[in-house]
Order: sequence, then C-alpha cells, then structure tokens
Amino acid sequence: MAQDPVAQNQTIKRGMDDLVVDTTAVSWVDGQRGRLYYRGYRVEELAKKASFEEVAYLLLCGHLPSQQQLLAFTWKLRQLSHTPEKIIRILQELPRHTAPLAALQTALAALGCTDPGPKYSEEETLLGLAMRIVAQTPIILAAFYRLNQGACILSAREDLSHAENFLYMLSGRVPNAHETRAMEIALIIQMDHGFNSSTFTARAVASTLTNMYAATSAAVGALSGPLHGGASEQVVEMLKEVEEWGDVDSYLDHLFAHGGKVMGMGHRVYKQRDPRAVVFEELLEELTRNEKKPKDIQILSHIAERARAHFATRDQPIHVNVDFWSGAVYKRLGIQPILFPAIFAAARIVGWCAHIIELRQNNRLYRPLSMYTGAVDLKFTPLKDRPT
Ligand code: ACO
Repeated sequence: MAQDPVAQNQTIKRGMDDLVVDTTAVSWVDGQRGRLYYRGYRVEELAKKASFEEVAYLLLCGHLPSQQQLLAFTWKLRQLSHTPEKIIRILQELPRHTAPLAALQTALAALGCTDPGPKYSEEETLLGLAMRIVAQTPIILAAFYRLNQGACILSAREDLSHAENFLYMLSGRVPNAHETRAMEIALIIQMDHGFNSSTFTARAVASTLTNMYAATSAAVGALSGPLHGGASEQVVEMLKEVEEWGDVDSYLDHLFAHGGKVMGMGHRVYKQRDPRAVVFEELLEELTRNEKKPKDIQILSHIAERARAHFATRDQPIHVNVDFWSGAVYKRLGIQPILFPAIFAAARIVGWCAHIIELRQNNRLYRPLSMYTGAVDLKFTPLKDRPT
C-alpha cells in the first residue's frame, strides 16, 4: 500500500466530524446550549418579531435593515420575480416523477445561462445575484409543483409578501394572516445552520470562483439526500406506519430492536433541544389551538416521549430536531409531503447565498487531502494481453 508521508501523519475525520474548516459570521449553532444565532440574533426572536425579507436582508447584508433599506430590498425582490420563459419550458420537459428538488437544481443551473452577467461592482453583483436566486426559488418550486398537478402556473403578485406569494403560487389562494405568518416563521428558522452539508457544498463549489448559480444548484443536490433534507417527509411516513401498526409503544419496540431510527429525532451538533423544533412546536400549538388535540399530534407527542424515555435508560439523551413537527405544521398550511424538502430549500437558499457572499470577501479554494489506500506502481498490461 502507498504511504503518503503527508496524509499518514493526519487524523482522518470521516464525515468531517468535529472538523473546523473555515470561519463564518453568518450563523452559529451552539449545540451545547441548544441555540441558533443569525448574525448574533437568536433565531427564536427573529421568528417572533421579523419578516422573511428582514431576516434575508440580515443574512445577506450582515445587519438588520433600516426602514428605507427594507423597502428597497423588498421592492427589488419583487422586481426579480419574473421567471424566464425558457426556464418554464425546461420545467415542462422534465419527467413527471422528477422530485421538486431535482427540478430546482436543474432550473437554478439553467437560470445561470440566462443571466446577462456582471453589470455592477463585484459586491453589488453578488447581492443582486443572491436576490435573484432567492426571489426565483419559490417561483420555480411552485411552477414545477403546479405543472405536475396539471394546474396553470401562477406568477408572483406584486402586492403580496415573499411568504404570501409562495403559498399563493402553490395553492392559487391568497393565504390568511395566520397561514402567512406560519410560512414566514418556517422559512426564517430554516434559513441557515452553520456548516451543514448543503452549505458546505455551496461554499466548496463557490471557492473555485464559479458563479452563484452553479454553487446553489450543487447545494440543492446535497440537500436532496434523505440524510439531510428528506427527514420531514419521512416523519409523515413514520406516522402512517404507526397508524397501520396500531400502537406507538410496540412500533417503537420493534423499531429499536431492529436498529431503526426515529425520524425527526437526534442531531449531530445539538446536545440540547433543537431551538427550531421548539419554534415549530409552538407554532403548531397556535395553529391547532381551537381543535381537540389532533390525532397526528397525539401520536407524535407519544413517539417523542417514548423515544426520550428509551434513550434516557441508555444514558444517551435524544431530542426532536427541526423536522419532527415541521410536517404537521405544513399539513395545516395545505402543503403536500412531497413539497416539504422544497420549503426547506426555499428557506436555506438565503443562507447558501449569504455564505457565498461571505466567502468571496476572502476566498480560499477548498481542497482537502485524502489518505490513499490503493495500490501503486502496478505494471500496465496492454488490452490485447488481458483476458477476453
Ligand atoms: N432514532 C434512533 N436512534 C438514534 C437516532 C434516532 N433518530 N439518532 C441517533 N440514534 C442513535 C444511533 O442509532 C446511534 O446508536 P448506537 O451508538 O447504539 O449505534 C447513536 O444514537 C448515534 O447515532 P448517529 O447516527 O451516529 O448520530 P449522528 O449524530 O451522526 O446522527 C442524525 C445524527 C443523522 C441526524 C441521526 O440522529 C438520525 O439519523 N436521525 C434521524 C433522521 C433525521 O431526523 N434527520 C434530520 C436531521 S436534522 C437536518 O438535517 C435538518
């Protein structure tokens, strides 16, 4: 086996566990205390008090906007809400079974081909690009969803906010104030989350100095994997399985006995409750305040309780993560499970763009090492001398 003297002296961190690869001032996941900060602000406070546009500005520009800045930012986002006809045609051509995130990944890459290129200073260009990508993402997702439903595509309306427009373009109905606020909160709390897998991907791709479309398109690809953006959909599957099984306790006994995982529980970084899960749980309580405790919530609460008790006996605390309650919230907004990862993407697109802008200010190509474990100096056998 080859002995690379440089790699040989390194500790291999598979999965990059606990590896610090760069600095960032965009967000901080304080896993020990169960806190998430965007540019220094607690995410719970932003979710309660700020709009989508305000928090997007905060992440992209580094500070909260003044009233004037927010007006200008909101106006510009609306101006960037026209999707080129060519992109719609690409969406129409995709096979019907295409997942919404795969369609988004394709459309973002294609959108890069329709951009006329830099017209301003580097910083303005990056912010302008980011805003175009943020504005286009829900439009593309909603357009693809409606195409798949055989419904007509709806354009964004100038009189609606970003969150209102997203719900309107998906359903064809202008949401009420509660629904709008719920969507806004869902988007805010999922906008950024340290160096998660898709954000790392966005940064790694952007570090080659390729354009923002290529980097965000790659990030969508990373998000689309079941270990990252797919857990909320799987919570819904788990609920169905429990209902078919008929009893939470014996379902979980069976799951644990077979080494299965409770979807929407556990986290690599949080050692406490995931603050985003707390926000979602509160939101769900608000959305269902006037109902007798609904069945899905009863089952989810039972699962969380029982799983916590199970792991407590193993001295291995486990908590619900952001994906545990999110599906139940989306259900109340009339959003189908197939779209859950799409909501995640429509939120996280802001964080990806903020990270790309940050990286560009002091770029360094991401280029890690690997430890080679294959053979070396093998003798090449010409094709004619190899077995047929
Ligand atoms: N259900 C049952 N057991 C679990 C769970 C779970 N949800 N999470 C962790 N464990 C157990 C593992 O089986 C393992 O046990 P062992 O030591 O006996 O082998 C131990 O806890 C450590 O598990 P890992 O998977 O190594 O922990 P890690 O920190 O790498 O994983 C992860 C975090 C991947 C999120 C894991 O908790 C999981 O798979 N959860 C379910 C899927 C999920 O909800 N994903 C969404 C994450 S949040 C997000 O990406 C937005």
